[in-house]
Amino acid sequence: MRRGGIIVGLDVGTTKICVVVGEEVESELEIRGVGTSGSTGLRKGVVVNIESTVESVKKAVKAAESFTGVQISAVYVGVTGGHIKGLNSYGAVGIRGREVTPLDVERVIESARAVYVPLDREVLHVIPTGYILDGQNGVRDPVGMAGVRLEVKVHIITGAVSSIQNLLKCCERAGLEVIEIVFEPLASAAAILTDDEKELGVAIIDIGGGTTDIVLYKDSWLQHLSVLAIGGNHFTNDIAIGLRVSVSEAERLKKSFSCAAASMVREDDVIDIIQAGQERKILRRYLSEIIQPRAEELLNLIKGELLSCSGYDIVSSGVVLTGGGSLLDGLDRMAEVVLGLPVRIGFPEGIKGCRGIMNNPMYAAGAGLVLYGLDKESKGAFYQDTLTGMFGKMKNWVAGMFR
Ligand SMILES: Nc1ncnc2c1ncn2[C@@H]1O[C@H](COP(=O)(O)OP(=O)(O)OP(=O)(O)O)[C@@H](O)[C@H]1O
Ligand SMILES: [Mg+2]
Repeated sequence: MRRGGIIVGLDVGTTKICVVVGEEVESELEIRGVGTSGSTGLRKGVVVNIESTVESVKKAVKAAESFTGVQISAVYVGVTGGHIKGLNSYGAVGIRGREVTPLDVERVIESARAVYVPLDREVLHVIPTGYILDGQNGVRDPVGMAGVRLEVKVHIITGAVSSIQNLLKCCERAGLEVIEIVFEPLASAAAILTDDEKELGVAIIDIGGGTTDIVLYKDSWLQHLSVLAIGGNHFTNDIAIGLRVSVSEAERLKKSFSCAAASMVREDDVIDIIQAGQERKILRRYLSEIIQPRAEELLNLIKGELLSCSGYDIVSSGVVLTGGGSLLDGLDRMAEVVLGLPVRIGFPEGIKGCRGIMNNPMYAAGAGLVLYGLDKESKGAFYQDTLTGMFGKMKNWVAGMFR
């Protein structure tokens, strides 16, 4: 939302709903505040219960409003889930030997968008991944250059119509106007990646509660994306089943005492757990033995994904882990070993305001949505084109249901 420089991002996650309020101050983003609430209406990143999601969204919005004193009415919303897919396409237009104009760029992207997309899928983004002018590869921004034929390679990101409609429905029912639906890792990338990393080649891996999103960048262009249906909640469930404790106790134990690899824990460390209402002592190492196979499974799935898309040729500067799941103690060191690449944890960086709250990978997507909105709005109407007309139609359709 941009009312007097205000932009709001809404991250509807599997474990938490987060509303980030940002303000543009002298062309820079300053975070005014954050509102969060627990999320119970999603599974693996997808809305499965509209009522409880609407309630959680309203709660998070209210919290953000009372924190910042800003009346929130329109938002950039993040989307993820196994239904999100990417496909490559290509377009070309004639320029007739004059200078390339922004309209030509718009035309060539439009021509690349003309691919078959099944009726049950909706185009979310059409992202240029490289321009070619008169056979010359690697053109960053063709506007102003002279040529005869302009070509573009694009990555088209699509999602299931039903999942997107349900997300829109929740926002509408919570009284929010949706400016745009954004694939979350694109937003996270805006908040945590440096320009050098994007240029050299990097993988951003957002380990959330229900999903793990993987996005690859090189030469500052998006190269590949995929979503794995596994996240931090799987670790919690393993602990709950392995120790026969409640899910909330398992979550507490995971956050306070777990380590991704048992060998990283001292053999004589003892911890207290609550089992069937009774306090018991167990070896801390036992907790890590329960989650280690899950950590290995997740990292091996990520490795398989990198291998299948020639990711090792792309990610020269390594891997950035983000999302709440990346906070699991020792996961970054284990990732370095399993993936054989340098690994760092990505926090929302270089953003002013609310440092204490924002200094957490759980807020990368929320902060990124605000940065994404700021970038989009400063580029103006031309780039609004990356949204399909269909999205507008869907918004109207959903809005119509609640009139
Ligand atoms: N200190 C910690 N150690 C281990 N795991 C943690 C820690 N803090 C948070 N998590 C885990 O991070 C996960 C939540 O991360 P995040 O908030 O990024 O997910 P989400 O956005 O709600 O979900 P998704 O993106 O999958 O829809 C939970 O599984 C939570 O247990
Ligand atoms: Mg998330």
